[in-house]
Amino acid sequence: MSIRIIPKEEIQIQDVVDRIHHGELIAIPTETVYGLAADAMNDRALKKIFRLKNRPENHPLIIHIAPPKKEADVSLFWESQLSRWSSDVPPQAIALAKAFWPGPLTIILKKSRDVSDLVTGGQNTVGIRAPRHELTIQILQALDSGLAAPSANRYGRISPTTAQDVFDEFESVIGEETLTILDGGPCLVGIESTILDLSRLDEVGPVILRPGMITSDDILTIIGREIATDRHSEIRHSGGVLGHYAPQTLLESKKTELMNDADFMSNKIGIVTFGNMEELQKKWSTKLVDWYPLPQDPNVVAQNLYGLLRELDKKGYQKIVFDQLPDHSIWSGIQDRLSRAIYGSGQH
Ligand code: TXA
Ligand code: MG
Repeated sequence: MSIRIIPKEEIQIQDVVDRIHHGELIAIPTETVYGLAADAMNDRALKKIFRLKNRPENHPLIIHIAPPKKEADVSLFWESQLSRWSSDVPPQAIALAKAFWPGPLTIILKKSRDVSDLVTGGQNTVGIRAPRHELTIQILQALDSGLAAPSANRYGRISPTTAQDVFDEFESVIGEETLTILDGGPCLVGIESTILDLSRLDEVGPVILRPGMITSDDILTIIGREIATDRHSEIRHSGGVLGHYAPQTLLESKKTELMNDADFMSNKIGIVTFGNMEELQKKWSTKLVDWYPLPQDPNVVAQNLYGLLRELDKKGYQKIVFDQLPDHSIWSGIQDRLSRAIYGSGQH
């Protein structure tokens, strides 16, 4: 068994590339969350991902590809890169790649013939994105393939946003496997990429399968077409699995301004609030509660969301209450993860 974190300053790109060519698993930093990566062209390596995550083999993986080096013609570059993995690259995909890649957007396209069934989950589409993290970009640019990578957590658990989270996740289940975790620091976006399905453009138009920090409004600005949101798709994606990011402690959402006596409990609870902490502490000074501030900036909330949920879950609270989030598209990715966490919480 071997699982280890390599500190940033000790990472050697060629060594990592060699390991990937040998079919090893590498945990890579991205701007969203850490990924559990393997060569997208190597079925033996891909199988290791499913085994280690304990993930059903019919759940498709995202292929991570390199962005162009500075001197390249960007449109031509994306066209040729996407054509490696997709048999049908619509102009909207190129426009979105130019606008948002490298960045937290995954685009679903019709797959090309040689994409492995392990990547597609046996479906006729493939998910692709170019992540924005300098280290991972260097690896992808040195690799003559793509990296298939789901989030580096065990199936059904909160995604990791630090190298240590990945270590903690797999240390007890690593068995005979080898996992090298590249420490690229904490993830800057903090929740997984927006997933946009462009594989059914003619029939249903563009569809968001998983909201993220690139919003439907951002996408609309580039492709000028109304975007649908599809929570009940027959297509397999983690958006379809409610309760996917579940803490063990019971989690609720409630406007903390409107809390009353009955919301407090016999044991300590944790409350995450947009409200004024001093006033709240004073108002509820007799209650068993720890207060946590919720920043107004959705980017900051997303960046810290999973870390906060992990931290709160370790405190042994009777329950955790999360303030109600604003009803605006920039919050929809965060709302989505929170709703899932609430749905699956307290069941362990
Ligand atoms: O930000 C992210 O997207 C991170 C980082 C590591 O890139 N990755 C990630 O992967 O969140 P994962 O596997 O945990 O979630 C990707 C979701 C899965 O629910 C998968 O089912 C869906 O994307 N997906 C992948 N390919 C798909 C396809 N062809 N059609 C529909 N959904 C797809
Ligand atoms: Mg995941």
